[in-house]
Amino acid sequence: MKPDTKLKRKSKVILGQIAALTMFLSFLSCNKPIANRTNNLSASNRVTNLLAKMTLEEKIGQMNQYNGFWDVTGPVPVAGDAKMKYEHLRTGQVGSVLNVAGAAEVRKMQEVVVNESRLGIPLIFGLDVIHGHKTLFPIPLAEAASWDLEAIKQGARISAVEAAARGINWTFAPMVDISRDARWGRVMEGAGEDPYLGSMIAKARVEGFQGESLSDPSTIAATAKHFAAYGFAEGGRDYNTADIGTYTLYNVVLPPFKACLDAGVATFMNGFNVLNGIPATGDRFLQRDLLKGKWGFDGFIVSDWGSINEMVAHGFAADLKEAVVAAANAGCDMDMESLGYVKLLKEAVEEGRVDIAVIDEAVSRILQVKEQLGLFDDPYKYCDVDREELLVGHADHHAAALDVARRSIVLLKNDGQLLPLKKKQQGLAVIGALAADKNSPLGSWRIQSDDETAISVLEGLDKLGVDYTYEQGVRLKNGATDFIREVPINEIDTTGMAAAVELAKQSEQVIMVLGEVGFQSGEGRSRTRLGFPGLQQELLERVHEVNDNIILVVMSGRPLVLTWADKRIPAILQTWQLGTQSGHAIAETLFGDSNPSGKLPMTFPRAVGQVPIYYNHFKTGRPGPIDLVFWSHYIDESIYPLYPFGHGLSYSKFDYDDLTIDTTMASTRNLGVSVTLENTSDQDGVEIVQLYISDPFASVVRPVKELKGFQKVSLTAGEAQEVRFQLTEKDFSYYNQLGELVFEPGQFVIHLGGSSYCEHQVSVSLN
Ligand code: NOJ
Repeated sequence: MKPDTKLKRKSKVILGQIAALTMFLSFLSCNKPIANRTNNLSASNRVTNLLAKMTLEEKIGQMNQYNGFWDVTGPVPVAGDAKMKYEHLRTGQVGSVLNVAGAAEVRKMQEVVVNESRLGIPLIFGLDVIHGHKTLFPIPLAEAASWDLEAIKQGARISAVEAAARGINWTFAPMVDISRDARWGRVMEGAGEDPYLGSMIAKARVEGFQGESLSDPSTIAATAKHFAAYGFAEGGRDYNTADIGTYTLYNVVLPPFKACLDAGVATFMNGFNVLNGIPATGDRFLQRDLLKGKWGFDGFIVSDWGSINEMVAHGFAADLKEAVVAAANAGCDMDMESLGYVKLLKEAVEEGRVDIAVIDEAVSRILQVKEQLGLFDDPYKYCDVDREELLVGHADHHAAALDVARRSIVLLKNDGQLLPLKKKQQGLAVIGALAADKNSPLGSWRIQSDDETAISVLEGLDKLGVDYTYEQGVRLKNGATDFIREVPINEIDTTGMAAAVELAKQSEQVIMVLGEVGFQSGEGRSRTRLGFPGLQQELLERVHEVNDNIILVVMSGRPLVLTWADKRIPAILQTWQLGTQSGHAIAETLFGDSNPSGKLPMTFPRAVGQVPIYYNHFKTGRPGPIDLVFWSHYIDESIYPLYPFGHGLSYSKFDYDDLTIDTTMASTRNLGVSVTLENTSDQDGVEIVQLYISDPFASVVRPVKELKGFQKVSLTAGEAQEVRFQLTEKDFSYYNQLGELVFEPGQFVIHLGGSSYCEHQVSVSLN
């Protein structure tokens, strides 16, 4: 943790005060004279007037986004594209920059545009603020396991506060791609497999990033990405094709995007993938017809990195110019780093292949977001170095990150109540390279945070004063890892294995920390095997041979296949990659200072061959089991997951009783549902009560179960509480092939419980 500076201690800023403070700082900077300020115009007038003054090149410039190309604290580049890009800043041909951060750095670049370009239209600065900025929260998939919308919103809020203090005013988050495939490395960046949970979390994240108003300098514009179906990459291989039916598109893929829209998200990003034969970047139906048309989205759409150009490789456009024409006409407003719009769009307009109205619309949308951010009033409102110093890495942010980390841990298994351990535990061994790792818990998409800044598990144990002996066992990595290269994994060096086995032999209790390196998930990190990488499985088996009293702590950016461990290891804790405060959260949970309450946002398979595996699947015509072979199953593995969606244990024990339906409003298709939840243990705890519905028979096949509500309930030992849900017609409806919401009268089943395997159910007829 960054030590408190004197200034920080003195200020002791809590979150509510941060908003007031940032408003005040912004007030100060708003009053500085700035170039090209256009006062006293309403938003749309200002944008319209500005548009009227712009040349075609300047308009296209607004649609052009460059990656940071110059070390703004050093010399200006002189060669190649970098030089051209710099010139384009001065000639008003850049609307946005990504990957430039730091109040001073951003200011310097903004000054070139504001002071040297003809109209001085400020840049919007984008960055991937995915799970924090300097202070890192758990990876998004882990946060989703908390099912805690307030905590998730708070995480996004703090991420925005830190990023905004470092010059950033736009994040490329949240990623709301639903995925059912743990092979896909980017599952770490989303909220898992469920459209309902995914939508609630999408909304929370947008609200967290954008706050009450984009004009507040502690907020940043959010991006709903990747529109659409990027998470359905075939084979779980990143950037691969998605081919899905309309039921899945409308009922599974699109709802979280719609939730972002309803929450007022400022921008969308399209995707690298082809969806049903059309690259998302050139998909007119998705962008122009659905998003901007039917849904009425009034922000702007940015391409993904180079995705306009990639339409050539897809075989959808003959060359970059064709791709530019297709993207612009389809409704893609800004070109991220294809260098296509800036070089070829003018020609396309002059040839009549892209209407000037398309350009004007795109530019208005972009300028409108800049206006909402207040950049025309003060282009430097995010560039205050004092604010940066005051807020980034603030102790309150670390406290909040720790809080979410605790809530994100999922107790997968706890035979014989082995956990929690007693702090006076004698003969405790800790084994596994990840236990000492200060980098992996930061996960992927850490972007601007500093390496080696996570609290390791060992540091967490030290803080609790736990007595243990540590052996790495086997090295996990074979060298340094970073965001842009394959992770070198140690497959051969067994040095250290014998010492770990010897330690286990002499110990009473073993904690093994195994899993993935932080950069083994994320973009471009698809895997075909979902076991422990490198020699860790061998280490686990050899330790188990001499001591089976093992607590397994799993760190990973995705569901792993834990079938071997599940059969033999009594206690398993899924700890994902929990960010800066990881080790404290894990140690507190192991020793009972924190009672786990997380629930899986993705199904854990028994074998990779089951993937894609998800709880809300359709029924087959041959459900079985029958004694002949002709039913829908595998001959070598169960069809059921190892741990289902929604699963997660606690040190408390919860009983469900009295599931009751209030049908007095049934004629309006509104139902009250209640259940009594009792904490029957002597431990205070939190349960996530989940409500699913199923429609046994309809004019289209409906999933076996669909989540429609959940509540986090905190109960002291022995306490009981009635938990109520209110269901409306929408909860029983589905989107048909035309994307229309349809309610079909008939019988429905309501299921309640602590996972998607909920045992309590009741039928109801609705007309
Ligand atoms: C590519 C990723 O797909 C996207 O999500 C990200 O925002 C951009 N790169 C910018 O880093």
